[in-house]
Amino acid sequence: MSVNQDQLKQAVALAALDHIKPHLEQDSIIGIGTGSTANFFIDALAAIKNQFDGAVASSEASADRLKSHSIPVYDLNTVSSLEFYIDGADESNRQLQLIKGGGAALTREKIVAAVAKSFVCIADESKLVDVLGTFPLPVEVIPMARSYAAREIVKLGGDPQYREGVVTDNGNVILDVWNLSITNPRELEAKLNNITGVVTNGIFALRPADILLLGTQEGVKTIT
Ligand code: A5P
Repeated sequence: MSVNQDQLKQAVALAALDHIKPHLEQDSIIGIGTGSTANFFIDALAAIKNQFDGAVASSEASADRLKSHSIPVYDLNTVSSLEFYIDGADESNRQLQLIKGGGAALTREKIVAAVAKSFVCIADESKLVDVLGTFPLPVEVIPMARSYAAREIVKLGGDPQYREGVVTDNGNVILDVWNLSITNPRELEAKLNNITGVVTNGIFALRPADILLLGTQEGVKTIT
């Protein structure tokens, strides 16, 4: 019997919980991502909320969900270190370089991932690709720079599309960039971030995941 996508997401959320549980201390604070897979993880985490101190969230939505389970949410600036960051992805290659930001939370996700000692990515098997770029690459842009940044992105070979009606938690807008075949993720991540007005882009290659727990029909696979 085949397992549906939500069941795969739930399986990787539980696998992530098993992965971090032995390392948790009473004063541990956990970095939490955004999206449907991260939501499964938050819900699973609630069952062991007495075994750690609290969480740092990568979005207002995740913060609200954590609080709904009475898990304390900390400002990242008050936290000196994070052992783990747990989050989903829109795409991952086999080097654990990712595209993220389908939920528009990429900048805060990248910040929390930067602080964490270990980034545990949780995803169903549909997210694993040979080459990043089929999923349109989200780029967070300061609103007044939207048209300029879009013109610069065209020069890099992409087709940017304004994600209408979306304002990020940071008050910015998103350009989704189509038709990129990202053969050098580190280089493109740096080039896009170098465009004036770009806050960050959804390539996570300069700081890739450390471990990918991939939900498949044959069970959860661990890729490092
Ligand atoms: C949020 O901005 C994204 O980076 C998500 O982590 C990503 O879109 C994965 O979301 P799902 O777990 O809902 O597929």
